[in-house]
Amino acid sequence: MEAFRRFEQAGWEERAAGYDRLLGRITARVVDPLLDAAGVPAGSHVVDAADLRAGNRFLDVACGSGEASARAAERGARPVGVDLSAAMVGLARSRFPAIDFRQASAEALPFAAASFDAVAGNFLLHHLAEPQVAVAECARVLAPGGRLALSVWDLPERARFVGVLVDAVAEVGAAPPADLPPGPSFFRYAESGALIDLLHAAGLTGARSTTVAFTQRLASADELWDGLIDGTVRTSATVLAQPADVRAAIRAAFNRLTTPYTDADGLAIAVSAVIASGAAPPA
Ligand SMILES: C[S@@+](CC[C@H](N)C(=O)[O-])C[C@H]1O[C@@H](n2cnc3c(N)ncnc32)[C@H](O)[C@@H]1O
Repeated sequence: MEAFRRFEQAGWEERAAGYDRLLGRITARVVDPLLDAAGVPAGSHVVDAADLRAGNRFLDVACGSGEASARAAERGARPVGVDLSAAMVGLARSRFPAIDFRQASAEALPFAAASFDAVAGNFLLHHLAEPQVAVAECARVLAPGGRLALSVWDLPERARFVGVLVDAVAEVGAAPPADLPPGPSFFRYAESGALIDLLHAAGLTGARSTTVAFTQRLASADELWDGLIDGTVRTSATVLAQPADVRAAIRAAFNRLTTPYTDADGLAIAVSAVIASGAAPPA
């Protein structure tokens, strides 16, 4: 588990800027439904710190470049963003200098119990050696009645923007490199009910889930390929470790699999995510 954690951290230190170029644009489209699920009220834009109400402390776990924290601030919440990667925290601070971003692991949150009224993790779970430890931490820092919302990518047949690469790798039969530490299955929480079970196991109540699906426009299949290689950790490690002829075969399969999504304007490809949320029991 420790080896997987170190691998993920090192990967995100290298890939922060590459992630932000494409995948960060896609995950940003899931932020508003995630904040809704976490119960961060969609209010008017805050123009003055004095407008901030009590009872709106928001924690953005695995904040990446800070988009969910920034949108929560626009809704009138007082956000704190944490991420394991110093490079991601640096990017978030440079984009949103007024927001409090800190380097910390979801598995050991540096906050007292009941510090937040809402907690969210946008596409955090795929990257954790022990997701249940992080969810227990998120539940611990939630105030009574507060909500935790988590998002994951849907199954590859619905999240086609990533499914085309997953399918291309499988079709070619490319195995992960021997030095890639074993980690949890990437699509484990996309299975119906799995996220809800995870939230209930952490003591949260009334968990519910929803699917957010949309079409992402891109200039070309090249843009998607570069975005996935430059902006993922585990998936890109498998592709980049292959000999040149196997990499070329993966690329050819990827090009063929993206063809049905190509039109005169480039690529229009399906994105689908599952969001689940649950509440901390009342005091
Ligand atoms: C797919 S990105 C999502 C970033 C952002 N939430 C978004 O939606 O764009 C995954 C993020 O999880 C962070 N991460 C990975 N393991 C983590 C951990 N144990 N604790 C906190 N953050 C972690 C990575 O550094 C990366 O920023």
